[in-house]
Amino acid sequence: MKGKKFFAAAAGAAMAFTLAACSGEGAGSTDEEPTDGSTAGGGDAVAEGGLVGVAMPTQTSERWIADGDAVEAGLMDLGYEVDLQFANDDIPTQSQQIDQMITNGVEALIIAAIDGTALNSQLEAAAAAGIPVVSYDRLILDSENVDFYVTFDNYNVGVQQATSLLVGLGLLNQDGSEGDAEGPFNIEVFAGSPDDNNATFFWNGAMDTLEPYMADGTLTVPSEQTDFEQAAILRWQQETAQRRMEDLLTSTYVGTDLEIDGVLSPYDGLSRGIITALESNGYEGTVADGFPVVTGQDAEIASVKLISDGVQFSTIFKDTRKLADQAVTATDAFLAGGEPEANDTETYDNGVKVVPSYLLESDIIYQDNIQELLVDSGYWTAEEVESGTAE
Ligand code: GAL
Repeated sequence: MKGKKFFAAAAGAAMAFTLAACSGEGAGSTDEEPTDGSTAGGGDAVAEGGLVGVAMPTQTSERWIADGDAVEAGLMDLGYEVDLQFANDDIPTQSQQIDQMITNGVEALIIAAIDGTALNSQLEAAAAAGIPVVSYDRLILDSENVDFYVTFDNYNVGVQQATSLLVGLGLLNQDGSEGDAEGPFNIEVFAGSPDDNNATFFWNGAMDTLEPYMADGTLTVPSEQTDFEQAAILRWQQETAQRRMEDLLTSTYVGTDLEIDGVLSPYDGLSRGIITALESNGYEGTVADGFPVVTGQDAEIASVKLISDGVQFSTIFKDTRKLADQAVTATDAFLAGGEPEANDTETYDNGVKVVPSYLLESDIIYQDNIQELLVDSGYWTAEEVESGTAE
């Protein structure tokens, strides 16, 4: 777990302060960097940017590490101090970390919740202390005290996942036109963690897209497990997905003539568990040789390599650099005494209120656009794609 990190604002960044909290005209008192590693003393402390707490769910998935690092770097560029914590996917740990951040005097909180409903008392304390809360990627539920939400268009991510499955099966072409295949095809469907609000959005987007193909018999789910509750994988665990895939194969396919043609997977970690289960049950080779079409999400490097090798079919690229940027911009707007700019004020009802949101767009990654979308954009290097590990 990463320790608390205090950052003394760099002189260049300090001069650029435009925060409302800043006491003076900017230059002058704020360009003196403290030398003891702590915040600037005396009345100018606030002008040094203030402390922002960043609570991320886990370091077991590289995306959250990248998110945490990018948010931290963006805040530090603006001269803020950052307390970045990862909670090992443990709800009490995350609650304690946020309590501690409030005790430490954070001026704003950026939170990617493990369980969207578990942070009520922390958020009450934050509100009482006048601390704005930005919900990061995952919506915090059942609380009045969520001020802003930065995320991707999560329903559309689900649409893209299902679309890529249809492309892999040959029912659609990448340009959206009808493909040559006719089916029928056997698929199985997976969902994310039931305590993550995003999981339902991904699921609804995907199932709405697949529904007409299921209705006319082009797609069948031989296990008949088509309810969210049956498909959901708690905490997005790879091993749980692997186990469920093995159970599905054993209960429905092994010893019959049935073959599985595709698997809807909403996250690369799950996809890799699903692929392992398929491989240990006799499926081999690449999609071009008939290996089942498996989708994904996050463009994790291990999965990008599998896509490059033709084993996993697709993933959804959500550029964490852009998300981090939005979170930093929103936080900075609050701390400057304003309101962040929302581009959606209707979709994300957290049970108590509709949280103003900024939604970003995502892209489907196939083998043939890895170079353009992931390498040319600097998200992964060609070497990382080749090796399957982040440098
Ligand atoms: C979701 C997130 C996905 C994926 C998943 C598992 O909340 O939106 O991109 O990262 O968690 O970590």
